[in-house]
Formats: sequence, C-alpha cells, structure tokens
Amino acid sequence: MATFRIAVIVGSLREGSFNRKMAGALAKLAPPDVEMHQPTIATLPLFNQDDEKDPSDAVKRMKEEIRASQGVIIVTPEYNRSIPGVLKNALDHGSRPHGQSAWKGKPVGIIGVSPGAMGTALAQQHLRNIVAALGMPALAQPEAFIHATEAMFPAPGELDESTRKFVQTWLDAYLTFARRLAG
Ligand code: FNR
Repeated sequence: MATFRIAVIVGSLREGSFNRKMAGALAKLAPPDVEMHQPTIATLPLFNQDDEKDPSDAVKRMKEEIRASQGVIIVTPEYNRSIPGVLKNALDHGSRPHGQSAWKGKPVGIIGVSPGAMGTALAQQHLRNIVAALGMPALAQPEAFIHATEAMFPAPGELDESTRKFVQTWLDAYLTFARRLAG
C-alpha cells in the first residue's frame, strides 16, 4: 500500500499545547497508509525578504518536508482573533521566493483548539484567506472549531469519546478530499 504523507503544522510552540495534543491524536486516528509528520517551525528565523534567495537550513528542511507530502493539516490556536505569528512566519517562508512556493496545490485541512467559547473560529477564517492566497485547496466542510478542556485529552494521543468521534469524522472527510485531489 502506497504511503499517503501528510505534513501537520502546529501553530503553537507551547510545551503543553492543546493543539499539539490534537496533532498527536490525529496521527493516532489516521488509517495505516497515512503517515503524519510535523515539520519544525520553531527554529525558523523571522522571515526577511532579503534572505529569501539564500534561505537557512531550517527553511529548506521545512519546504522539502512540505513538498514530499500529499497534503497539509494545520492545527492552530487563535491569538488575538487571528493566527499566531509563528504560524504566519512559517507560511510566509514556505511561500517564497515567488514561484517557488512549497504550499501551492497542497490540499489543506484546518482544525483548531481553544479554551475560548469560539474555538478558533476567527483564526480559521483568517487562515482561509491566507491559504487561498497560497493556492491551497481547503476542505470547506465539516469545519472543526474545538472548545478545549483538560478532560478532552485523557492520555497522550487520546481524546474523550465525543471529541474522538467528531475528529474522526473530520479527518475522514479531509483524507477523502485530499486523496481525490492528489489523484
Ligand atoms: C490567546 N488565547 C486566545 N483564545 C481565543 O480563543 N481567542 C483569542 O483571540 C485568544 N488570544 C490569545 C492571544 C495570546 C497572545 C495568547 C497567548 C493566547 C488563548 C489560547 O486559546 C490558549 O492559550 C490556548 O491554550 C493556546 O493554544 P495551545 O498553545 O494550547 O495549543
């Protein structure tokens, strides 16, 4: 069975991140032919257009990992009603130089976890604008705005039952979408 590779970008660098826990749970819910990996975005320098033609090793590595993937899942918190700067930094790095974007054409699924009542809805709306500019076809429905609680993550890679069912449905929909586009 050919491996279907998905790059999972986590928009939080926090050690105990809910979104990183969700990324771990997604990997566990994926079928056997799907391999999820998390490109490192924590070591990327701040994007400076002066350097885009001679990128750092961290940037080259991230772009290679994206290029080697059939799809991308972005799991992100909401910061001040938008996406975290670290995530935007990674998206900008991967998009440059002009004409050499690693993101173009990669089917993307957007999911986010927040203790706030709106569960990252506004961040995801901003992110949808950005991925459109990057030429990434995005799964429209179902949407996944997840209101976090500590009880939601009973153990590493585990979710409580109702969240697991919801996330499994979302992941299945994303994979169907991504496989169709990957041909
Ligand atoms: C937040 N948080 C937050 N939550 C939210 O639902 N809407 C928001 O606009 C914001 N804004 C915000 C700004 C900044 C700078 C921080 C640090 C936090 C709270 C945020 O959702 C919470 O810290 C999550 O736990 C962050 O996700 P991780 O790190 O757990 O994955």
